[in-house]
Amino acid sequence: MRTILITGAAGFIGSNFVRILLRRGEPVRLIALDKLTYCGNLANLSDLVDNTRLIFIRGDICDAKLLSDLWQQYSIREVVHFAAESHVDRSILDSGPFIQTNVVGTQILLDTARANGIDRYLQISTDEVYGSLPEDRPDIKFTEQTPLAPNSPYSASKAAADCLVRAYFHTFHMPVLITRCSNNYGPYHFPEKMIPLFVTNLLEGKKVPLYGDGLNIRDWLYVEDHCDALWAVLNNGAPGETYNIGGNNEITNRQITELILRALNKSWDESVQYVKDRPGHDRRYAIDASKIHRDLNWTPKHRFEDALKTTIQWYVENEPWWRSIKTGEYLKYYETQYLRR
Ligand SMILES: NC(=O)c1ccc[n+]([C@@H]2O[C@H](COP(=O)([O-])OP(=O)(O)OC[C@H]3O[C@@H](n4cnc5c(N)ncnc54)[C@H](O)[C@@H]3O)[C@@H](O)[C@H]2O)c1
Repeated sequence: MRTILITGAAGFIGSNFVRILLRRGEPVRLIALDKLTYCGNLANLSDLVDNTRLIFIRGDICDAKLLSDLWQQYSIREVVHFAAESHVDRSILDSGPFIQTNVVGTQILLDTARANGIDRYLQISTDEVYGSLPEDRPDIKFTEQTPLAPNSPYSASKAAADCLVRAYFHTFHMPVLITRCSNNYGPYHFPEKMIPLFVTNLLEGKKVPLYGDGLNIRDWLYVEDHCDALWAVLNNGAPGETYNIGGNNEITNRQITELILRALNKSWDESVQYVKDRPGHDRRYAIDASKIHRDLNWTPKHRFEDALKTTIQWYVENEPWWRSIKTGEYLKYYETQYLRR
């Protein structure tokens, strides 16, 4: 039985990853570490509480003593590192927590792994570290050789963490792997991010705030496909390597808005409110995922239109989950972010 430390396991992708491994009956024991920040939510794991192969620990990746204790107590040999401050808009309001968790936290995790021993360390990064692509050059995509050019405090903190991980491979020969994925969507996505925000606003009878001209392009990937790719990289990736992960599915924010409106029977005029664009908003992201396809035989299984419908239906059926989030601190943030622009 393998023991794997999963940081950020109560977040969106971390909780989906844990659920997928346990439901499939993979021979793993998962130590799920999460600070439960505003976006970490134990309800994301509530259907798994009785599973004896999941051990949840509330704690901070910046707590070196806690990490060392976990290594000793559970004989950890593998790490999948999801924990992060992950929302670009919040990094523009205050970058401090992003540097602390995403950079310092990653350094503390790397040092703990190095001191206590590690067989596989997987750093979950993002395509945003590569910066922005021109809209009029659909032939250009991010490859693993694309230079890092982060444009937001969030992506700068993730790029800094990637550089540390790379350095620990070269300097200390640590068996690290890095993945850089495009935008994910699916169940348990915190409703400050575009797709769950728009779906839940419409279900509440509110308008959806569309940034700028709505023509920013992202390459969307269903979260289950991302988790499958991560499992393939953890098991079969070559140490020191980086793998891009993407859906080959470029779509503008306007097009996504139209699809969501159609699925929920809403009209553009009654439901869309244009808001002032995000400062420094990257125009286009697109991933060339040919390396992971070629080396690890991974390819996305879900079609965007189908998986988007499944996702919307999940929010329709899980109203108590998102209603309990859209209160208190969330409402204060929403007002600052959208209503005062
Ligand atoms: N969501 C996407 O589209 C996407 C795409 C590519 C890469 N990523 C990366 O994947 C990872 C997970 O993203 P997500 O969307 O699930 O994020 P999320 O914000 O939903 O979850 C992050 C989790 O980390 C926890 N956390 C934050 N600070 C912590 C700390 N100091 N110690 C322990 N736990 C802490 C939070 O409580 C939360 O549960 C991130 O590293 C992100 O950069 C996300």
